Amino acid sequence: MATSLPRTGASSAIDRFDDKARHTFESAGKTTVYRGELLRHPVYTRVLHWSVALFFFLALFSGFGIYLPWLFRWFTPIFGGGQLSRIMHPYFGVAFVFFFALQALNWLQPMLWTDADSRWIRNIKKIVTGEEKLEPPDTGFFNAGQKLQFWEIVGGCIVYLITGIVLWAGAKTFGRITVAVSYVLHDISALIMLGGIFVHIYLSTIGEPGTFQSMIRGAVSEAWAWTFHPAWYKQVTGRDQQQAYEEARRQSSSNKP
Ligand code: HEM
Repeated sequence: MATSLPRTGASSAIDRFDDKARHTFESAGKTTVYRGELLRHPVYTRVLHWSVALFFFLALFSGFGIYLPWLFRWFTPIFGGGQLSRIMHPYFGVAFVFFFALQALNWLQPMLWTDADSRWIRNIKKIVTGEEKLEPPDTGFFNAGQKLQFWEIVGGCIVYLITGIVLWAGAKTFGRITVAVSYVLHDISALIMLGGIFVHIYLSTIGEPGTFQSMIRGAVSEAWAWTFHPAWYKQVTGRDQQQAYEEARRQSSSNKP
């Protein structure tokens, strides 16, 4: 079933650019949304996400060989040897930042911080320990944890870009101290981002079942939507999380023999 694309309320130029890109990609690719499912990520978002992931890991693995050659020397043959990894690494990095910049524009509106996000953060202990079975009812398209990670990556990309240019041009252009400081900032940023990505991969696959398919097929079950993003579920379907939860419980107990 073809679906209409989600519209953001963000202002005109970015909105027009994103809308055009979403429509172009949607007509080249396909998103099938079955009965009982909702459209989560259109083709454009998925292509950007996996391009970001691909170049992130290429930059990471080629970077490891440069950062700790004695430990990660075995990575470098993948890129045609140590010398070639060193040459390729900045290009992978620039491609990563480029695709993430497009994704940042695409997700700017749903990533804006709200009062509901501040409440989510105050409630984080109950969410992490599983004391709260459902996400708070005012959790929208992305929760505060996802937003924090998104903004951390935005910050990381800015750091990579500035320090990466310094390292690329070298001490002759920027001086030894600037290059030394850039090395440290570049690597700290990579380690912080890597730590976050481990958590991200865990939550998007095993941690919150049903999430992974949103970036593969583009659709999620309604149950996933009211469990993890109830305010978004309500916005799209007009139905309440608690009502959907009670109905699902009644249905599952009436299905029991
Ligand atoms: C194999 C690795 C990866 C998997 C399995 C994965 C999976 C996913 C999935 C399923 C979503 C959708 C979440 C939702 O709709 O609520 C998502 C969103 C996202 N991904 Fe990934 N991803 C991976 C790698 C990456 C990398 C390398 C980056 C960036 C460096 C990244 C950045 C993001 C961001 C910013 C979001 C939106 C916010 C969030 O859900 O945290 N992902 N990812």
